[in-house]
Amino acid sequence: MAKSPYQIGLIGCGTVGTGVLELLHRRRDVLAGILGRPIEVSKVVVRDLEKTRHNVYGFVKPDVFTGDPADVTGNPEIELVVEVAGGVDEPLQWMKESLSNGKDVVTANKAALALHGDELFQLAASSKRSVYYEASVAAAIPIIEILQNGLVANQITHLSGILNGTCNYILTRMEEAGLGYGEALEEAQQKGFAEADPTLDVSGDDSAHKLALLARIITHSHIPVEKIFTEGIEEITAEDIAFAASLGYRIKLLSIGSRHEDGSWDLRVHPSLVHRDEVLAQVRKEVNAVQVKGDAIGPMLVYGSGAGSFPTASSVVADIVRAAKGDRPIMNSANGQSPEIVSIDRVAVRNYIRVTVLDLPGVLGRVTSFFGMKSINIQSMQQPEAKHGQPVPVVLVTHAVEDEVVSRALDELRERTDLLNGPTTRIRIED
Ligand code: HSE
Repeated sequence: MAKSPYQIGLIGCGTVGTGVLELLHRRRDVLAGILGRPIEVSKVVVRDLEKTRHNVYGFVKPDVFTGDPADVTGNPEIELVVEVAGGVDEPLQWMKESLSNGKDVVTANKAALALHGDELFQLAASSKRSVYYEASVAAAIPIIEILQNGLVANQITHLSGILNGTCNYILTRMEEAGLGYGEALEEAQQKGFAEADPTLDVSGDDSAHKLALLARIITHSHIPVEKIFTEGIEEITAEDIAFAASLGYRIKLLSIGSRHEDGSWDLRVHPSLVHRDEVLAQVRKEVNAVQVKGDAIGPMLVYGSGAGSFPTASSVVADIVRAAKGDRPIMNSANGQSPEIVSIDRVAVRNYIRVTVLDLPGVLGRVTSFFGMKSINIQSMQQPEAKHGQPVPVVLVTHAVEDEVVSRALDELRERTDLLNGPTTRIRIED
């Protein structure tokens, strides 16, 4: 007798949801062969029942659509709930209801997991169910699987990644096509890379959510996202991109996790100057990449599409298959002591600093003396040809110095209207 289908419910039928339906349809025979029974999407929860959805009508039965999430979360026929709706509070509620009702959950929702993962994972454990979240970090790249399983024999000592496709797309298009920030963001939105609220992308918060999830796995402990220093790309200008290029660097939004010898962790997300010869500098457009160092394997790199319908849906479908096979994630819950998180103030990096001065005798000397007085050692200085008495940008690169020393100095310098004639920019350099 043919086995009964594995029934799943989908909440959300936007960019990712439609990709999931298409991939499940395209791969239905192969997946049924792997599982020994077909996967059936029994219900699809949508916000607008009236909306026509020609792009998915061929993949599901016409009566699957509902406006009520309870048709999925409380449906006794459904074994797995796939949440790809976006947002935080409602999805969290739906996931909790699903787990309490004995269903496994697959989600791409890094915000809900980074902010409320502890609660959700504990509920999953007490309900003897699992939360699968491969699609929540770096879309197509199976980084969760790699860190949870493939590298379990390693103490991870360093991780640095490009984890937001929208930001990487914007920075690439600004550099390569000379687009303004707004134009590049609009393109990224049109291509379906950005979050419903793109401020989550450009503020660095989306990357911080993802870093919190990866840090949870590699530290075996709960990492509150508020402990991750986060700075976005909103202030990056074409001028900085051009200066960085002339110095041999590209600007990337990096998510960094570094383990110190005493077991503390430095976790941060901010724009970084990356030397153009480095692998991460070569990562273009919406592509994501993660560099990991483990004590057994040394360095490793993974690279792939970090946003968009099919790349994200690919990881969602992989999780659906894991759940259908009964594979239980081995590190779904934090089980260790939370490590000390080192304040950004105590992290020493080199810096790119751009100031604008009036071209007058002695100004450069006074600016460099100012940094000298603050014990900030200047490694190089660049200034285009200036017109007498007119504002001119000056770019300084510092030697490595504790972050707080630079932050304090720049706060003071910004008040020095006798020296400066425009905004001051600081971008950290990743060595
Ligand atoms: N908005 C995200 C990004 C994609 O641009 O990377 C989903 O995580």
